Formats: sequence, C-alpha cells, structure tokens
Amino acid sequence: MANDKQFYSKPFIVFCWLIAAVGGLMFGYDIGISGGVTAMDDFLLKFFPAVYAKKRFAREDNYCKFDDQRVQLFTSSLYLAALVSSFFASKVCTKYGRKQTMLVASGFYLLGVALNAAANNLIMLIVGRILLGFGVGFGNEAVPVFLSEIAPLNYRGAVNILFQLFVTIGILCANLVNFFVSEYHPWGWRLALGLAGVPAFMLFLGSFVIPDTPTSLIERGQLQNGRTILQKIRRTEEIDDEYNQIVHASELAHQVTNPFKKLAQPSSRPPLVIGMLMQVFQQFTGINAIMFYAPVLFQTVGFKNDASLLSSVIIGLVNVFSTLVSIKTVDKFGRRALLLQACCQMFITQTVIGIIMLSDLKTTGSLGHVEAIVVVLLVCLFVMSFAWSWGPLGWLIPSETFPLETRTAGFAFAVSSNMFFTFVIAQAFLSMMCHMRATIFFFFAAWILVMGLFVVFFLPETKNVPIDDMNERVWKQHWFWKKYMDCDHDQNGHKVPNQIHP
Ligand code: BGC
Repeated sequence: MANDKQFYSKPFIVFCWLIAAVGGLMFGYDIGISGGVTAMDDFLLKFFPAVYAKKRFAREDNYCKFDDQRVQLFTSSLYLAALVSSFFASKVCTKYGRKQTMLVASGFYLLGVALNAAANNLIMLIVGRILLGFGVGFGNEAVPVFLSEIAPLNYRGAVNILFQLFVTIGILCANLVNFFVSEYHPWGWRLALGLAGVPAFMLFLGSFVIPDTPTSLIERGQLQNGRTILQKIRRTEEIDDEYNQIVHASELAHQVTNPFKKLAQPSSRPPLVIGMLMQVFQQFTGINAIMFYAPVLFQTVGFKNDASLLSSVIIGLVNVFSTLVSIKTVDKFGRRALLLQACCQMFITQTVIGIIMLSDLKTTGSLGHVEAIVVVLLVCLFVMSFAWSWGPLGWLIPSETFPLETRTAGFAFAVSSNMFFTFVIAQAFLSMMCHMRATIFFFFAAWILVMGLFVVFFLPETKNVPIDDMNERVWKQHWFWKKYMDCDHDQNGHKVPNQIHP
C-alpha cells in the first residue's frame, strides 16, 4: 500500500500546471506590449523617427494615421519567428520531452528580453523580437500539450485553459505596464519591454522543478519513470488503465517513423484540418486587431492618449475574467456550445461596431462621446465572448485531438497557423483599416458567420473523450470525417487500410 508521501501533494500538482501556464503569460505579455510601446513618442523617436514625424504633422485622417509597415513589422516579426520555430520545437518536444522544450523556450525569452530592453538600434530591437518569437514557438508548442497530457480526463479542458488564462493575464499586465510607464521619459519603453524578464525567469526556474508528462516519458522509453510519475500526479496506485492506454498509444506511435508523412495520410486529416482551422478562425474573429491596436483604435474613435490606454486596461480585465467562465463551463457544456454561443455574440457586436463607425466616424473629427462609449462597451462584449470560446478552444482542441504519433508534429501546424495569421493581421490591420475604413468590421463579421457554420457541420464534441480514443469515439462516428478513417495510401499511392489505428 502506498503511503500518501509517495504522491505529489495537490498544491504541488497545481504548481506544475501554473508553471507551465507561465509560458502563456510570456506569449500574452508580448501580444499586449507592442501596441502601447509603438504608441510611445520616445520609442518612435528613437527607432522610427520618420513615423514620429508623420504622426505629429501628417494630415489628420482617422483611419490612416498609424498606417506604417515598419512599425507593423516590429509587432509582427515575432510571429514569423514563432511560425518557423514551432516545427523545430515539435522535434525537440518529441525527442527530449515537453519540460525540456519549455526550458529552451525560457532561454530564448530571456535572451530576447535582454536585447529588447537594452536596444540601441533597430537591429537589436528586431533580433530581440525574433528571439522572443522563438520563445513563443517553443513555449506554445509544449505548454498546451503538456497541460492536456498531465490533466485528469474529467477536467482536461479546464486545466488546458490555464494556458489561455495566463495569456490573458499577460496581456492585461502588459496593458497596465504600458499605462504606467508611458509617463517615464525617455526610457519608459525599456521598462515595458524589460519587465517580460520576470515571467521568463519564472518559467526558466520552474522548468527544472516540474516533472515531464507520463506520456512523454513513456514515449521516450522511460516506462518505469512514466508509471511512477503517473501515480504521483494521479495520487493513487490504481493507474493501470491509463498507463496501459498510454503504453498502447506509444507502441502505435513507434510504428511511425516520420510523423510528418503520417500527417499527410487521409486518416490524419480530421485533426489536422480542424486543428489548423481552429487557429485560422481564431485570428479571423479580429481579436488581435483589438489586442494589438486597442489604444490606436480608441484614439481613432476620439479618445485622448490616456483614456485610450485605460480602455485597453478595461478590455484586458474583461478578457481575464471571461476566460474564467470557460474554465468553469468547458467540461460541462462542451466545446461546441461555447463556440456557437460566442459566434452569435461576436457577429452581432462586430456588425454593430461597423454600423456605428460607418455612419458616424468620418475621416476627420471624432465620434460623439456617447457613441465612443458604446463602441468601447461593444468591444468589451466582443472580447468577452472570444475569451470563453475561440480564445481557449483554439489551443485546447488541437492539443486534445491528435493521436500520440502525430501529436507534436500536428500541433506544430496548429501553432504555425496561429502565428501566420497573427502575423497577417498584425501586419495588415492598420493598412486594412486605412483602406477599408469601417467596413473592416463587416469583414470580420462575415468570417464569424463562416466559422459558426463550420462548428455546426464539421466540429465534433470532444468533451470527456480520452485523447487516445478520439479515432474510435469521435472521427469514425462523424458523418463527414469517417470517410477519411478507413484508408491511407502506400508509397505508390495505392489505398491501404489505416495501419496504425485499424
Ligand atoms: C490568441 C491570441 C490572442 C489572445 C487574446 C489567444 O488565444 O492566440 O492571438 O491575442 O488569445 O486573449
């Protein structure tokens, strides 16, 4: 009979979840900080003097005053680096484990933060940003998979959403930091960029303390160690069923020598297409137009600098608290219910914002006081629904639907789809706003309609299904996806039965 001391204490288990989730904090901080920093005059003067001049002296055009590709490149370079690095991260994640991948992520973060905070020229700034991007690529690859694997089945959704919760806390911290440091001249921006070192250091230290997931240990041949850790984190010796399931999944995984080739097979299509589309759609809600450019957006509707930074702080708070709603509900009501409810709320809010801006915000002048407040309220309602649906589920669903043999490779495609479209929105939004003006909000609303239909017809419910049972219990039962499950192709392109999960 095992005594309780052999198991991890409950607080330690929660500590492990939280340490991993700090990877989300880093990601969120990076998302939230750039909009505020690029609005700081000291920063623009030092790195983008031409943009500073344009901002001060250019013709006042509400929709176009911040349209500058170079500033946008500062924001978006991080996502390109993350896109590329997520594929390397997937290899490290399989070969060396989730924990080591998080450690590597924290190393990139620390280097990136140091370069950014000390930057004296544009090169240092962009190289720092790229290193942060590597951190995001490695962190976002490992953390959601770590959380989904380490969580007990009946609250896997809630544990995984800690990642997104920490993303939102990171965004909020960044908004607050921007709000306070903008008064410190001329180095407020250095403080804003440098403070990211705090969570990076926490992740670095934490990565030494937490165990790796039993799945990763078993997959890497450490059967006994994996079994012991499984007992410790489940706090019981009765783990045979789960252990055998993981060993079985890992045996199947070992039959696959090249996970990327396996991903090209028809039987991998359902999780691959869904994982990537969840991320693409997540970005086409328009969320990052708000996260990156909230201060700019609010200046556009007529708020002064301080009021607009404050409104972004309010939005940050709404984002955090609404994510808690999804932690509470995701394993109860299921993934589909949350996504569909949010599509309705997001569609209405984007459309109404578009109508108000179209009818009331001309190229010069500003919205009336009441309209501006209504726009902020609508943005809050929009962010609220994103925060309990597409935000967390964009990460949860891809991390819980791939079988072990393609999990890290498949997840890398999901991460890189996110990064690519985050890059596209970061790079294009200000220009799109300049050209499309208020109709940009209808553009996002149209996408939200498409994603609602996608959920209705193509997204099966995955609540309470063990990760390694998805094929049998989900894909093979689905009216559309089941046709991909029966056969794969051999080297000559001939149809053969799906050999891994017959
Ligand atoms: C998305 C980010 C977004 C954030 C907002 C995340 O899930 O991937 O792009 O900025 O949610 O909370």
